[in-house]
Amino acid sequence: MQIEGQAALVTGGASGLGAETARELARAGARVALLDRNVAEARVLAESIGGIALECDVTSTESIVAALEAATARHGTARILVNCAGIGGAKRLVGKEGPMPLLDFTRIINVNLVGTFNVMRLAAPGMLATEPLADGERGVMINTTSVAAYEGQVGQAAYAASKGGIAALTLPLARELAQFGVRVVAIAPGLFLTPLMGQLPPEVQESLGASIPFPKRLGRPDEFARLASHIVTNLSLNGEVIRLDGALRLPPR
Ligand SMILES: NC(=O)c1ccc[n+]([C@@H]2O[C@H](COP(=O)([O-])OP(=O)(O)OC[C@H]3O[C@@H](n4cnc5c(N)ncnc54)[C@H](O)[C@@H]3O)[C@@H](O)[C@H]2O)c1
Repeated sequence: MQIEGQAALVTGGASGLGAETARELARAGARVALLDRNVAEARVLAESIGGIALECDVTSTESIVAALEAATARHGTARILVNCAGIGGAKRLVGKEGPMPLLDFTRIINVNLVGTFNVMRLAAPGMLATEPLADGERGVMINTTSVAAYEGQVGQAAYAASKGGIAALTLPLARELAQFGVRVVAIAPGLFLTPLMGQLPPEVQESLGASIPFPKRLGRPDEFARLASHIVTNLSLNGEVIRLDGALRLPPR
């Protein structure tokens, strides 16, 4: 679909990949709502792109419902949803202090996987109720997985499982929503220079970048954002997980 004039929702829109995607969609003429638990940062960005910031914790159904209602009231029903909210975290199954606390596993699954699914679940009814566009399309949902879904490293069991879940739900949900003209696509980024990575010392960033075959540098958030915006405009992209990683394959550790 054409981005111009559409209402868009971006979770995790206050920072990193979500923030850059929000900028890109706004530049292309979308009315963008940033849904993030860090609403202070989301507000600053929303102001600069003419969008709105809504406090939202994707682990809470009430919080998502309230944010979606507020977004719809301001911008109308969104045909574009980009899920970027997510957290990292590494821990071994058995560490020096014994078995990994179960909460460390469920916390990451809850934010990354259950949170993504819950936002899709709650945004879908509105999208499905919109009038189809000229080519039969009603909406598109773009989720963020990771190359760790395929090559999780030592200590990444929880993160890899959460991202593997996001990758795995892409096709069944694309199949289910096809009859309504709603597409589901996921992006699997490699290593990207976001505030998360920016905290690492420059030499560590450099060595991570050097592990990427080409280009030998960390990915730039605008490269993610441009892929997200391309997915919105390319009707034939559906049911697929697209790696965006410079041919990186993560080693075991
Ligand atoms: N940066 C990378 O190299 C990389 C690689 C692969 C995948 N990813 C994925 O991309 C997504 C974005 O990552 P980023 O690097 O931009 O990180 P980031 O930390 O810069 O941004 C993540 C955003 O999500 C928000 N968030 C976290 N938990 C939330 C919750 N419960 N409810 C609502 N918002 C919440 C944060 O407040 C933050 O604004 C994540 O899902 C991450 O796993 C990132």
